[in-house]
Amino acid sequence: MYKCAILGCRGRARAHARAYDDVKGGKLAAICDMKEDLLNEFGDEFAIDARYTDLDEMISKEKPDLLHIVTAPVMRGTNERIRYPLLNQASEHGVPAVVIEKPIAVESEDWRQIYELSKRTKTKIAINTQLNFHPKNLELKRDVAEGKIGAIKFIEASARNPPVDQAPHVLQLVSSYIDNSQPVKVMGQIAGAGNLDGAQPSPANATGLVTYENGVQTAVAFGPEMAPRVSEGTGNNQHKRVCVFGEKGFVHWRFSSWERYTPEGGYEGGSLGYGGQNAVSQTNLTEAMFDWLDDDNKVHPTNLPQSLAEFNLLLGIYYSGLTNTVIELPFDPPDGLMDMFREQLK
Ligand SMILES: NC(=O)c1ccc[n+]([C@@H]2O[C@H](COP(=O)([O-])OP(=O)(O)OC[C@H]3O[C@@H](n4cnc5c(N)ncnc54)[C@H](O)[C@@H]3O)[C@@H](O)[C@H]2O)c1
Repeated sequence: MYKCAILGCRGRARAHARAYDDVKGGKLAAICDMKEDLLNEFGDEFAIDARYTDLDEMISKEKPDLLHIVTAPVMRGTNERIRYPLLNQASEHGVPAVVIEKPIAVESEDWRQIYELSKRTKTKIAINTQLNFHPKNLELKRDVAEGKIGAIKFIEASARNPPVDQAPHVLQLVSSYIDNSQPVKVMGQIAGAGNLDGAQPSPANATGLVTYENGVQTAVAFGPEMAPRVSEGTGNNQHKRVCVFGEKGFVHWRFSSWERYTPEGGYEGGSLGYGGQNAVSQTNLTEAMFDWLDDDNKVHPTNLPQSLAEFNLLLGIYYSGLTNTVIELPFDPPDGLMDMFREQLK
């Protein structure tokens, strides 16, 4: 049984903690938050006695096998980018495994630091893009892999929240349907100044046409202006979707519904309960970390290098929009994108 710990005791950490009701391979044993009131509230809620306000102390004393880093990429109320320092801290301590919330970075500078870390660290790191494990997504993916829609001709995917928030989910979903084939080229556009001083700084909207190494093209749209609604009267966070078109049919996963057309099954579709699917997926994302700890060959599907490639694609969309150029991927993203957004976006 692996020993697990959580850093960050605000809203999102509750989904990570709840997953341990069903997780078989590990036990949640310790928590850390510099804010003592949040720490104690969380500890009481999940009956965890080992509570720390200092991450170094928690790791040194508890020696967790798996650390969940559940924070926003920017410390709220400050401009401090905290993904790299926290990952590096875990890596320096030799923590065997980390699950870290999406997005893996917000801009070129932190992306590059984490990319360099990925080359030297021994820590196994996965990003919490749990949609990969939604049961209905897995079923639709199996259909595609078994050839039920024929060879993939085109993929179209979107989400209405700001790009940095939900593009990581959506780009990971696209990757998952094409066996992590790597993006090789993108032309993108961005619009709207968004909230560049927030905990997830981002332009308000982004679109892109992407070519992958396997030849598949994908159209993506992020933000409320261009991403379609999947149901009326729901918040912008509830419109993630991916639609995979094949030569004989298609599969379409949406936040709250799904569709499929195959020659054998005809047209099918139905509704989905996101909460229920999400709970199962969080458990299975966590279990997949233990599989990777058990066996080096069972690399986690949402592993760090893959997520960095997907974030490099998002940075490519940003930079293509800023410069009106086509970007060959992977690319070395220039520093200072936030200043360029401030200058160019209204
Ligand atoms: N995967 C999903 O479906 C999903 C859904 C919602 C949100 N998210 C992601 O979750 C993240 C936000 O989660 P949140 O709102 O719970 O986080 P938050 O940033 O609001 O809270 C993080 C907590 O960690 C603590 N903390 C940060 N650094 C620390 C340190 N060095 N030592 C001790 N304590 C420290 C802070 O005091 C804070 O209480 C975002 O990245 C968001 O994109 C993911």
